[in-house]
Amino acid sequence: MINLSQIRAQFPILNREIHGKPLIYLDNAATSQKPLSVIEVESNYYKELNANVHRGIHTLSQLATDEMENSRKKVQKFINAKHDYEVIFTKGTTESINLITYALSNSGKLSKDDEIIITHLEHHSNIVPWQMLCQRTGAKLKVIPINEEGILNLDFLRENLSDRTKIVSFNYVSNALGIVNPVQEMISLIRQNSGAWIVVDGAQAVPHFKVDVQALDCDFFAFSGHKMYAPTGTGVLYGKEAVLESLEPFHGGGEMIATCSFEKTTYAALPFKFEAGTPNIAGNIALGAAVDFIENIGHETLQQHENNLLKYAQNRLLEIEKLTVYGEKAHRTGVVSFNLQNAGISSDVGMILDKLGIAVRTGHHCTQPIMDFFNIAGTVRASFAVYNTNEEVDALVEGVKKAQRMLS
Ligand code: ALA
Repeated sequence: MINLSQIRAQFPILNREIHGKPLIYLDNAATSQKPLSVIEVESNYYKELNANVHRGIHTLSQLATDEMENSRKKVQKFINAKHDYEVIFTKGTTESINLITYALSNSGKLSKDDEIIITHLEHHSNIVPWQMLCQRTGAKLKVIPINEEGILNLDFLRENLSDRTKIVSFNYVSNALGIVNPVQEMISLIRQNSGAWIVVDGAQAVPHFKVDVQALDCDFFAFSGHKMYAPTGTGVLYGKEAVLESLEPFHGGGEMIATCSFEKTTYAALPFKFEAGTPNIAGNIALGAAVDFIENIGHETLQQHENNLLKYAQNRLLEIEKLTVYGEKAHRTGVVSFNLQNAGISSDVGMILDKLGIAVRTGHHCTQPIMDFFNIAGTVRASFAVYNTNEEVDALVEGVKKAQRMLS
């Protein structure tokens, strides 16, 4: 059983008021709130440990290095990577995907006859870097379509896989709609029909359920720390050892070299080849504390609570007349995305909810192609974390009803 009052007590921000009303934070897909354990680990680093990592012989530098490398091991176990050096610290999912695309072009891995497949459900961060890679290399981008429920057309994927397919990149969970894609089935299909490398954007998956990158058998797995209770500016790119070894670096600079001269530079071993410059040491250490936070609650407990919340929220919202939930019948996690028909635009609803202390995201959610598909400018998105309650959902529903009365 989940102990919600104990969990909520760990989030100081949940005690604050917005416009004189208790904060109801339902914008967790944008970024989650942070528990005291994470806040304290980050601030303690500056109070007691601050030194650069992997550079100093002095004690403080070694302590900071140990803490950061210990955090890398926690992340390794969290996603069940085979080796800790397959975990590269980045500043988030966006940087992780850009890292892959630049490493690919720097390595000359793509040319004009090659194809990259993505899906219609992607965040802009899993569209634009691939478009830019296509511009640099001449490769072609193909997009798996969706149906009215937001479900991917896997026949399209099957029919378009070939020797020309070099990359297939897709999210595990859609940030805009919360749809959980059938990634295991997609990966089997890709393995059977091509030699493509598989990139999974796991940003909206890791906050909600256990991920095992070895069981998935993906080549890359990208996610952000700040959506899973860790500080902003933290994230991870997992890559299979052999795949990472075969790639040239993205950024050049300090820390990523083995030897450097004006004639020739050789690169450091994994993961440092891909971690040029001073990393976000405090944030990376605090990411380990966020992993501990999730694991102390337990994936099953967390997932069950969030699934119950989502079901409750959807059922209650659908009691409201003239309200559309996008991807209503699809398998989803963490997100309910909706609009009121004939009652203003999503940001009007969002502003009324804000006055009631309720934080939701409105607009296109960095997924304009999804909005274009549904022929809408945006949606109201309520997204959940482990500290949310049914009472907060009730307040959301009352707020939406009020917005409907005011805007109709
Ligand atoms: N990707 C984040 C979101 O979905 C910012 O809101």
